[in-house]
Amino acid sequence: SMNGYDHYMLKEIHEQPDSLRNAMRGRLNDEDATAVFGGLNLTPQQLRGVERIILTGCGTSWHSALVGEYMIEEFARIPVCVEYASELRYRNPPIENNTLVFGITQSGETADTLAALNETKRKGHRTLAICNVVGSSIAQAADGGVYLHAGPEIGVASTKAYSSQCCVLAMLSLYFGRMRHMSFESGGRIIEELRRLPAAVEQALTCDSEIRRIASKYAEASNFLYLGRRYNFPTALEGALKLKEISYIHAEGYPAAEMKHGPIALVDKHTPSVFIMPRGTTYDKVMSNMEEVKARGGPVIAVASHEEAQIRRIADEVIMIPEVPEFLQPIVSAVPLQLLSYHIAVLRGCDVDKPRNLAKSVTVE
Ligand code: F6R
Repeated sequence: SMNGYDHYMLKEIHEQPDSLRNAMRGRLNDEDATAVFGGLNLTPQQLRGVERIILTGCGTSWHSALVGEYMIEEFARIPVCVEYASELRYRNPPIENNTLVFGITQSGETADTLAALNETKRKGHRTLAICNVVGSSIAQAADGGVYLHAGPEIGVASTKAYSSQCCVLAMLSLYFGRMRHMSFESGGRIIEELRRLPAAVEQALTCDSEIRRIASKYAEASNFLYLGRRYNFPTALEGALKLKEISYIHAEGYPAAEMKHGPIALVDKHTPSVFIMPRGTTYDKVMSNMEEVKARGGPVIAVASHEEAQIRRIADEVIMIPEVPEFLQPIVSAVPLQLLSYHIAVLRGCDVDKPRNLAKSVTVE
């Protein structure tokens, strides 16, 4: 049931503090300052020997793969490739020995992801699934894996599965990191930060009414840009995809610094740009990118973590989210973008839970 919510999508957005707690339940080990997984089906020796990781999936799951790439490279220092499953299955790339392949999928039934995993498995590589639906085709095809435990996701637009995928990837980064050079202290700190995550997401959800107000101002736009850097670049792609699929507004996500290489030509007074810019390494750079857009007359919506006069001066709208470490920003900053696309779609009279032309699981290629 929808538990009093108007749509499954809204219910699932609000379930995220709980679905994140469920993703972490029993998986954080304080004694060894690491994560534990029951179903990887690989020995510590096999896992230690991993020299490259391929993350593959489609759509929103491909976006969480991009987040995972940044996390695994930062914390475990293992080189990562992110591949669209539909490309990986036919591209026949050379894959080195000791490569571990993760298929990331909410449904566990996406035809391209299943085929990509089977193709790499056939070549003799180890395959794991990061999957929500227990016993699904991909969960069965992989050598092992990690379940999200997010509960059923009914809305066609993926929300809580996305945040749980990012969370599982964060725990995997901790796990692989601690198997290599990450210290006990660093591992312990990451565990603490993960434990604080559900409360931060809860706080991000309180901006709902502010976002509804912003949505009503921009619901008539025909184009949106979403911009962010580093960990917030995949968030820009995910924000744009959410808006496209449920409100049918054209939207594009870019790394904020790519603007000047073309997309800035799209900026005009009818084209809002959403800047995902919680404070972090590239904060000042993104601030200048935002200023460039503003100078060209584009409306600016900023998603920020700190009250600051400069942001208020440049941006037309500011959505405040709580401060979390950079690697967890994708999970927290996705929340206002999910809500923004939800409210815009509702205002435009769209069928939020069953957008046109889309199916919950894509079992054809
Ligand atoms: C977007 C969305 C799709 C799916 C994609 C992969 O909101 O839901 O882009 O993410 O079809 O689906 P799964 O994760 O089930 O393999």
